[in-house]
Amino acid sequence: MPASLLDRFKNRRMILSPAADCSRDTPIAAVPDHDAACRHIRPMFDFWQSLLAALERIAMLPSLIHSVFTSLPSRRRMRDAVRTYDRTMDDLLREIQSLLESPLEPAKLLHMSGKLQEQFAPKLQASDICMLPSYNDTLPTGLEQGTYLALDVGGSTFRVAVVELKGKQPGAKSMRIVTMKSYKIDNIVRNLRGNAFFDWMAEKIEAALSDPQVQNLNGTKTFGMGLAWSFPVEQTSIRSANLLMMGKGFRATEGTLGQDLSELVMAPCRKRNLPVRIESIVNDCSATLLSRAYEDPSTRFAVILGTGFNVAVHLPVSALASSKYKGYPQKWLDQAEHVLVNTELSMFGKDVFPRTRWDEQLNDAHLRPDFQPFEHMISGRYLGEVVRLIIVEAVRTAGLFSGELPAKLEEPYSLDTGTLAAMELDESKFFTHATALFQSMHPLSKPPTHDDIHFVRQVAQLVSHRAAAFLAAGIHSLWKLMIHSEGLAPAEAGKIAIGCNGSVIEKYPSFRELCQSHLDELTTASGTEPNLISLEVAVESAIFGAAVAVCCLEE
Ligand code: BGC
Repeated sequence: MPASLLDRFKNRRMILSPAADCSRDTPIAAVPDHDAACRHIRPMFDFWQSLLAALERIAMLPSLIHSVFTSLPSRRRMRDAVRTYDRTMDDLLREIQSLLESPLEPAKLLHMSGKLQEQFAPKLQASDICMLPSYNDTLPTGLEQGTYLALDVGGSTFRVAVVELKGKQPGAKSMRIVTMKSYKIDNIVRNLRGNAFFDWMAEKIEAALSDPQVQNLNGTKTFGMGLAWSFPVEQTSIRSANLLMMGKGFRATEGTLGQDLSELVMAPCRKRNLPVRIESIVNDCSATLLSRAYEDPSTRFAVILGTGFNVAVHLPVSALASSKYKGYPQKWLDQAEHVLVNTELSMFGKDVFPRTRWDEQLNDAHLRPDFQPFEHMISGRYLGEVVRLIIVEAVRTAGLFSGELPAKLEEPYSLDTGTLAAMELDESKFFTHATALFQSMHPLSKPPTHDDIHFVRQVAQLVSHRAAAFLAAGIHSLWKLMIHSEGLAPAEAGKIAIGCNGSVIEKYPSFRELCQSHLDELTTASGTEPNLISLEVAVESAIFGAAVAVCCLEE
């Protein structure tokens, strides 16, 4: 039941830190003796705290005291023992909770969905960066067959796979990855400018092709290649697309913006004499929709939520203005009833979702502020960053980690969303794993206390829950767009499945379930029967979809 899941989540989360908090310095290992230790330490600690507070109030001593007790770790501990903070951790947590949770009431989420729909209207008429139509009018039948080289350029990995599509068969999987190589896209690769990025891709394709298993599969034939591209593209045919602005910190568009992506990939491949030919280019989210529809014909949407965020949807052709189909062959225009649309939903949402001061800080420091406001609130690239910004404030103003900021956390984007997911998974009494993990990733001169870890976990839960609810509002807005353009009332809308791919929606604890609960609340509030839309995990769907896209083309 949606409501009970949400209630359970809230009850679990909203236990503020335990009352017996004699000192934030108490390490987890010392917890069993905590009460006894408190009886002795507390009066002394209180004495020093009040003494310093009095001095701070009456003299200019604070700056002197703080400058004397600064750098050395032992001095840093002393500084904490005598330092007063602007507020308690519980007060700060209450404020964070209120800022992050108050927008999540159904009425407010419905309002956000409505505002998003208002933002869609002009972009469906004209925009060369979002609401991008493809050349795919029909979805796959699930009977297509073939073996292809599939490329998936994601935000943090480039994958090259041989994919076999076998068509629907009773009791057997209809598609399989025969072999796959993954190459990490780190900051060095992200910073490669223009053609240097495509040279890097060709080098990795060559490495993948040199695998004897791949060579045995294809012999001397040229491989038909499908590319799933995790950025917007302007399709110029099913085989080609022009490069549009890339987010996620990539610089490959510098000097290449607007050029033909297929040629950008093929030129360095030709230089290396690689036996490949690009057959299809498709956005990764559209690829997810194609591959999920190959297995389940009720699929009408796909969501990707990993490093990046997007939604693809199969809409009536008439949902987009005719100017959006400039250059499309007349034959296509005559026969197509529906079209697969890459919404680039990440780019919507400015002034729709309420921003906290941490969201503002993130946006202000961003390479492309306001380019993808929705993505900044919900994707894996940013969840860790929002939590990091809150941690920095909590250390400085409320004494988290005894006032010591782990050195690495000074760096933007140094707190990995995966670390937070793993910490949330540890529901044990003393958070033993969460503590060990945090200390190994972000060492402190003394291990974090139980209260410290409790705080970080609570903040992570609040930030990820907000993301799940905002995603539900985003899906609801596109569902409303779809039924409206089909000429249906909510009560007439049929059940649909949404293929979901990406680390956050697939793996972040409780994320998909929470999003589903909010979505159920929103669709029933709009007048549908319950459980109309179901979020289904579509594992490896971007890479499968790259192959399905080539396959559809051969039909
Ligand atoms: C990109 C989309 C992509 C999504 C998921 C976003 O940042 O703009 O094109 O589909 O990430 O990878």
